[in-house]
Amino acid sequence: LWLLCSVRRRQPGEPPLMNGWIPYLGVALEYGRNPLEFLRSMQRKYGDIFTCKIAGSYFTFVLDPFSYGAVSRQGRNLDFQKFAIGFSHKVFGHADFNDPVYSYNIKDIHSIFRQTLQGPVLQQLISTMMENLQAVMRRDEGHGWTTEGLQVFVERIMFEAGYLTLFGKEEEAEAMATGGATPRWLFMRQAMEDFHAFDKAFPEMAAGLPIHLCGRAFRAREALAEKLHHRHLKRNKCLSALIERRMHAFDQMEQLDEKEKARTHVSMLWASQANTLPATFWSLYYILRCPVALDAAQAEVRRVLGESGHTPGNLEKPVVLSKDQLAGMSVLGSIIEEALRLSSASIMIRVASENFTLTLDTGKTAAIRKGDHIAMFPQMMHMDPEIYEDPTEFQCSRFLDENGQKKTDFYKNGRKLRQFLLPFGSGVSECPGRFFAINEIKQFLTLALCHYDMELHDLAAAPLETDCTRAGLGILPPKHDVSLRYRFRNCVTVK
Ligand code: HEM
Repeated sequence: LWLLCSVRRRQPGEPPLMNGWIPYLGVALEYGRNPLEFLRSMQRKYGDIFTCKIAGSYFTFVLDPFSYGAVSRQGRNLDFQKFAIGFSHKVFGHADFNDPVYSYNIKDIHSIFRQTLQGPVLQQLISTMMENLQAVMRRDEGHGWTTEGLQVFVERIMFEAGYLTLFGKEEEAEAMATGGATPRWLFMRQAMEDFHAFDKAFPEMAAGLPIHLCGRAFRAREALAEKLHHRHLKRNKCLSALIERRMHAFDQMEQLDEKEKARTHVSMLWASQANTLPATFWSLYYILRCPVALDAAQAEVRRVLGESGHTPGNLEKPVVLSKDQLAGMSVLGSIIEEALRLSSASIMIRVASENFTLTLDTGKTAAIRKGDHIAMFPQMMHMDPEIYEDPTEFQCSRFLDENGQKKTDFYKNGRKLRQFLLPFGSGVSECPGRFFAINEIKQFLTLALCHYDMELHDLAAAPLETDCTRAGLGILPPKHDVSLRYRFRNCVTVK
């Protein structure tokens, strides 16, 4: 009787409501199995806005991309920060920055993202990443033809280079001399194993399971935090401005202990890697599967290397590319955007801080209750055949216009969309690392095409599927890995 009485009823003016039939969980199981299919079927029944009970909370889905702006304009009634910080506190175990004692500092800390990841400072980050990528790739020199999973290949190179670019590195020779240091490759292998063990539990943690009940993930997070203690980071050279500034800010906050500071760095490690690794995987996967993409990418890399005066064959002279040169690589840009379109399944969530009325783009209104979540799921737009013809197909020049430049006009119902590709979120929650992310993927692809002969084992196999159990968390990884045969070339050439 109590259960029946506690079932929420739709009030006048509210969107259609789906309570589901399982107490507390609501429609969590149907949603979790395949969010895209579930939302499509709901859209067919209820239209572009409806509310679902999922694991004890009410989510109002806004599916019409023209109405995303209407949600963004509700900043006064819709909160993102409190929700995001609360989630981060639970998963990463750092201090609860929603506590008023931190209210002054948290704004300052947040502003560091834009100051250190965007604009002219990006050049330094790009240069360090380029050096690190080449140093990691050079380790494959002289090994001859090797077979490895493509995902393993991409991740071991990108993880190490990205980690060192943010957190710097201790000089190996120096570390050995002071005794007891782990060789860098081993340190990185352990860090990557811990990263994966922690990341694997993310869907459960996002669904509300406390990290203490995910034993391996908890131990992995603590092991990563141990590596990111300030006492270690302070010994490192080439720390990024992002981490240096955050360390300085945390050192000023007397309430934080050393463990809590280290755990905030784990959150930065996760943000910088969890999406970048699968996005890089898919970009290279599609290049290797599609001869047109491969030819176009090789031609672009050859042109850019030629313009920067790089002599083919000279392995001793590192490849250096400026921010502007990378920005001009529109073919790689289009390939990466297409790979992101096909694999991105992030969800943008806001929490209603008051009862209010949301007016959609069509003029239709919806009453929203305080405490309810508003959710936007851009994968619906990315897979919409009206916006993207044959949406499940990889088309390497989908994001190029007739002049070979970035294409920005996409239409729905005959209207031009202001936002048509949102792998990095939008509005207050838009990813501050998006420019660095696109650049580092372009750098990886450029160097991979320069330094390696590569072939996928089974080119005739059906395209890989994404692992949709991670929907909502960003870029989906593949369901399984594919075999890659590769050889490091002893000279820099592009075929
Ligand atoms: C947040 C996507 C790479 C740093 C986000 C969000 C998305 C996203 C969707 C918003 C999450 C939300 O709404 O809750 C991506 C994708 C990437 C990528 C697709 C790669 C392809 C990076 C990199 C960095 C980074 C390389 C840093 C070096 C961050 C940070 C936030 C964030 C710090 C949280 C911002 C905040 O709290 O306001 N990212 N990201 N991301 N991302 Fe990225």
